[in-house]
Amino acid sequence: MTTRITIRKPDDWHLHVRDDEMLRAVLPYTAKNFGRAILMPNLIPPVRTTADCIAYRQRVMAAIPPGSKFKPLMTCYLTDDTDPDDVERGFRDSVFTGVKLYPANATTNSAAGVTDYKKVMRVLERMEKIDMPFLMHGEVTDPDVDVFDREKVFIDRYLSQWIKQFPKLRFILEHLSSKDGVEFVKSAAPQVGGTITPYHMVQTRNDTLGHGLNPYMYVMPVIKTAKDRAALRKAATSGEACYFLGTDSAPHPYARKVAVHGVPGMFNAPVAIETYAKVFEEEGALDKLEAFASLNGPKHYRMPPNEETITLEKSPWTAPKEVKVAGPDERAIVYRGGQTIEWKVVG
Ligand code: NCD
Ligand code: ZN
Repeated sequence: MTTRITIRKPDDWHLHVRDDEMLRAVLPYTAKNFGRAILMPNLIPPVRTTADCIAYRQRVMAAIPPGSKFKPLMTCYLTDDTDPDDVERGFRDSVFTGVKLYPANATTNSAAGVTDYKKVMRVLERMEKIDMPFLMHGEVTDPDVDVFDREKVFIDRYLSQWIKQFPKLRFILEHLSSKDGVEFVKSAAPQVGGTITPYHMVQTRNDTLGHGLNPYMYVMPVIKTAKDRAALRKAATSGEACYFLGTDSAPHPYARKVAVHGVPGMFNAPVAIETYAKVFEEEGALDKLEAFASLNGPKHYRMPPNEETITLEKSPWTAPKEVKVAGPDERAIVYRGGQTIEWKVVG
């Protein structure tokens, strides 16, 4: 039985670190174990322009613990009014790594997202021309579509057309949550890649709804069935290049999670790589962890993998229940907080 594994330092291709006090409280957990992370732009107000992004990157850099070599990779929040020239400038100046689509009102802080895809076609054309990645929250918000089918319908209605319309554009379907999503990504690789979260590979909707309502487990895309979970675990642990690590760690103040109108998002950075290791061990695929966590993402984004390594050991520890946040946010509840975590990062 493997009890110790060393892999190239992983990257997190989908991460929310927020801003201000929350940023300072949560960023060290990612900076400790990951070489790079793609930072999501869904702040209030969102990171819409190159100028917004330069300012946000400076705030992020200031929150990185001293001595850490962690590198933030920034994204542009796509709106109906995004200017293709500004996107191109930001990309050429290495400010933006990609553009992120939030369909309006699909998830947390997405009210400023895209309301009409016709309005953003010029941006997609430009991105195709300059070879800039397109990251998508791949769900429809049509009120007639069941919340469990939002990912599949997004693929059927939009993404399956866009990959033909923009044959050279590189897509990333973020936080895959369904068997349909997993299968589509494979069928459209290498043009399309997909990130997979720890929680979509561990939980099912029974955990949210089956034993009393657990508002903490509420995320977008919603956690689905055991069949979907099995497909996600199989995909991630296959080693196939189209699937890679994206935690979607998304901290919220406690009061916003446990509320009459609770917000989607789970804070998993303190246990992220450890939880992936647990899943890979359970699937008998620890030898594929490095591909998923450290190689496939850089390949899709056309970046070199990290040179450093991390070592994980089978050595149980207890995850903190919450992380304190200075100021009015007070605290963010941790995914798997208070539970025994099997794997530990030891070097
Ligand atoms: C994310 C957040 O809180 O910003 N929430 C979530 O449920 N995943 C946004 C997102 O990625 O959908
Ligand atoms: Zn997210």
